Amino acid sequence: METEQLQHFQTSGETWGKLAEKGKLPAVIDPRDLKGRKNLYIDILQKRAIQKALGKEKRKFILDFGCGSGRFSDLLVRRCEFMLGVEITKEMLDLAKDECEQKDIGLALFDGLNLPIKDEKVDAAISVTVLQYITDDSLLNRVLSEVQKSLKPGGKFICIEQVTKNKKRWQRDLKTYLHLFEQNNFKKVADYPIRKGHFLLLYPIYFGLIPKIFFKVVANFEMILRKIFRHSLRDYHEYFFEMKKI
Ligand SMILES: C[S@@+](CC[C@H](N)C(=O)[O-])C[C@H]1O[C@@H](n2cnc3c(N)ncnc32)[C@H](O)[C@@H]1O
Repeated sequence: METEQLQHFQTSGETWGKLAEKGKLPAVIDPRDLKGRKNLYIDILQKRAIQKALGKEKRKFILDFGCGSGRFSDLLVRRCEFMLGVEITKEMLDLAKDECEQKDIGLALFDGLNLPIKDEKVDAAISVTVLQYITDDSLLNRVLSEVQKSLKPGGKFICIEQVTKNKKRWQRDLKTYLHLFEQNNFKKVADYPIRKGHFLLLYPIYFGLIPKIFFKVVANFEMILRKIFRHSLRDYHEYFFEMKKI
């Protein structure tokens, strides 16, 4: 892949390769969270949302698009006969390999645009905070079209991405995501916020004032709050999207 194109798959800060050195959660959530409490909280919350959407049904083939350090593999491997994680960053994939050593899953290095999967093979695809880093809409369109092609008709695409209404922030707005999904022949099943970027309880969590044992309860509470209060104008929200291949 051209270097110029690869840049569209990087953050504006450290490269994914460098971030991978930081370990399973800081590599893919917040690298500055040295005590790891905030990362653990976000990990728990995101997994609850994905778990709920997948239900208990066992599928044949689940794809984790941009699997990073492989933190969803435990959850996914129990819900399918075969799980494949694809990643553009070799260092992340190495981290995922250590993480997944004991499990029967596939991990593949991906060039970012051409999925190594035959068309209409995947029952469900998940992707957590990957699309938001593909800042060029036309590249994201190509990526979404690859994911769409890999899914069986009626297959689910479940993702979590940061969304904002604040034009000064770098994240996309909700409308843009929905438009991109629609353009790629996905039908919306659900979209709702699950987490607010600067949720008040995130600070006591960060400073260790809320014991880890309560993280699940706080995560459930936050997901309920987000459904009631919807979107703030200034902050970003993490949105849960469930799409279906038409
Ligand atoms: C914030 S991390 C999230 C990783 C994982 N989904 C998680 O939530 O733990 C974003 C990941 O997306 C990967 N990535 C970025 N662009 C990609 C692309 N076009 N194809 C596959 N992976 C990509 C990066 O290498 C990085 O590991």
